[in-house]
Amino acid sequence: MPQATCLKVPKNLGEQAIRLVAELDLFNRELKIQQIEDYLCIPLTSEPLPAVFNKFEKKLSTFKISAHNFPERKKRHLLPLDYLADELPPNLLAGVPRAIDFVGDIAIVEIPPELADHKKTIGEALLKAHKQTCTVLAKSGAVEGVYRLRDFELIAGVKKTVTVYREYGCVYHVDVAKAYFSPRLSSEHNRVASQIKEGETVVDLFAGVGPFAIPIAKKHNNVRVYAVDVNPDAVSLLKRNVAVNRAEKQVVPLLGDARKVVREQLLGKADHVIMNLPETALEFVDVACEALKPEGGIIHYYGFEKVSDPLEKASVRLTEAVNRNNRQVKNILLAKTVREVAPYAWQVVVDAQIQ
Ligand SMILES: C[S@@+](CC[C@H](N)C(=O)[O-])C[C@H]1O[C@@H](n2cnc3c(N)ncnc32)[C@H](O)[C@@H]1O
Repeated sequence: MPQATCLKVPKNLGEQAIRLVAELDLFNRELKIQQIEDYLCIPLTSEPLPAVFNKFEKKLSTFKISAHNFPERKKRHLLPLDYLADELPPNLLAGVPRAIDFVGDIAIVEIPPELADHKKTIGEALLKAHKQTCTVLAKSGAVEGVYRLRDFELIAGVKKTVTVYREYGCVYHVDVAKAYFSPRLSSEHNRVASQIKEGETVVDLFAGVGPFAIPIAKKHNNVRVYAVDVNPDAVSLLKRNVAVNRAEKQVVPLLGDARKVVREQLLGKADHVIMNLPETALEFVDVACEALKPEGGIIHYYGFEKVSDPLEKASVRLTEAVNRNNRQVKNILLAKTVREVAPYAWQVVVDAQIQ
């Protein structure tokens, strides 16, 4: 325990004494105040000079200066806002983004338009507050296109979009500019993987870099996951991730359009079909039905819903689409919101047992 100069006062003078040493800039905030019987020991940054001593005498009816061993205070982790407090006008501080996606050593933020002129300052504050982060990217467009990608702008740190991300004991090589990846779905990746049983076959129609396929392989020895994606960059990262996670025995990466791949290779094979393409998953329910075994299985369907009853709406949409494909929903096993994607808009998941 470090030794420091101590102002010892009776407990009833404690508050007054702490305020006084703080005003005099003498309060050692790195050490913990200690209580010894009816006294408080307040750590000081230095011995009080005679003028300061006089102030103590004026304000405190009784006190003692001595040396004392104090335990250290745990340092509070500073937030980006702590670093920005002196850099930004107070009216803008409230708009500083608090939702940050950390993908390995890359931080991704959305800078509101009123803070556009301060984006580099915000990026630097983020680097200071999160020492493990090397790169800060600002979203500069919506997720779009068949590959579900968005543009980013480097606002601080090293110029790169490639990183390594760890989730539930799995390792992912990711390129946020070339293949879709969202850390916000981590509990879904894990939840779906936990639904799979030994011996089952899974078709992941929109597999990306493998965040559903790989945890399934990690949790189960005797499973087969056909992981399909149309984006060559996603499949090349998926193959790498299969290798680094030693999932070669269970995961079969397949490059191509899900409809074509299923019709050519995967008809009637699946106990589970994962459909994480929320914008257009409904258009692929026919493909999911074809991929399922003739006796049925489970579809894990993701959709976006804007309405007031998103779970009901998504369940009905999926049920109707399944009916149109000469299958039936035997049971809705689960319907829940995964995350809010915009005001009054949700990503939802429906697990449906299909006959
Ligand atoms: C929203 S991302 C999800 C990726 C991954 N499942 C995840 O959770 O990170 C959707 C993926 O579907 C792929 N995709 C879009 N249309 C496709 C199609 N017709 N066939 C196969 N993959 C497709 C995109 O390239 C993208 O990687």
